[in-house]
Amino acid sequence: MSDAGGPRSAGPPPGRREGPRDAELEAGARAHYDDPAYYASTYGARIDDVTYYTDLAIRAGGRVLEYGVGNGRIAIPIARHGIEVVGVDHSAPMLADLRARLAGEPPEVRRRVRLVRGDMREVRLEQRFDLVFAAFNTVLHLYDRQDVEQFLARVRAHLAPRGRFVVDLSIPCAADLARPAGRAYSAPRFRHPTAGVVVSNREYFEYDPLRQVLFVSMEFEPVGQPARGWVTPLAHRQFFPREWEALLHYNGFAVERVEGDFEGGELTADSDTMVWHAKRAPRPRRT
Ligand SMILES: C[S@@+](CC[C@H](N)C(=O)[O-])C[C@H]1O[C@@H](n2cnc3c(N)ncnc32)[C@H](O)[C@@H]1O
Repeated sequence: MSDAGGPRSAGPPPGRREGPRDAELEAGARAHYDDPAYYASTYGARIDDVTYYTDLAIRAGGRVLEYGVGNGRIAIPIARHGIEVVGVDHSAPMLADLRARLAGEPPEVRRRVRLVRGDMREVRLEQRFDLVFAAFNTVLHLYDRQDVEQFLARVRAHLAPRGRFVVDLSIPCAADLARPAGRAYSAPRFRHPTAGVVVSNREYFEYDPLRQVLFVSMEFEPVGQPARGWVTPLAHRQFFPREWEALLHYNGFAVERVEGDFEGGELTADSDTMVWHAKRAPRPRRT
């Protein structure tokens, strides 16, 4: 059923990518989002970041752009506060689920949300925004330098002159990256919302230190029916804090602050998340 834990080559060395992204990374950026019901049930209890971004949007006092809007876990609460949100995402299932959720909202909330299906590295909008954000590890789907450069150029282009770019991402954890590739990490059985049956759930992790990508294979098996099992791949680029800071700096952003949680806490060695606030840096002066 699963190829989890099988040998994987370390991938190409760092450098400029030629041609499209490889299939393994493309699958790792999409498959997890093909099942919005599972996504919603797994992350529904995550609310600290919803409050955090909603407060930021209220304080920004203008239009908001969310990259990787998903099924609207954050965008819908922002719209409920009277704020216009544009949401960009490449996942048709996530956007369809967001539209279905919006259908249950009052007309004024529905009107405030505009959805654009497309790649966050490419989408061009005719608007600038007071707050641009990418929540919950969305940027871990930017796998190489070219991806990051393209995305940050789009963010810059969409930021109002005094607008702010906020992004949160997990901090790589050395112990997690060192997990042996073939070892199964089991989680409790649960009723899968899409399959409608109780499934056992194992995860396999494999870190590619050259590409700095953590490959996760999520294995689901209906209890007593192993032949009906399936595997969902997920690929997360690992950005170390100083690396992300440098990427912002060299792509035209001035960091205002970085926090270590969604309560405004300091970034410390114990933080598992980093939340970066940045503005457009002035263009470098020509001498
Ligand atoms: C972890 S989810 C976050 C969803 C939502 N913001 C939330 O917090 O629940 C990441 C989202 O980014 C989207 N995504 C990944 N790569 C993308 C890309 N290159 N362009 C646009 N969307 C992308 C996925 O489809 C997914 O909806």
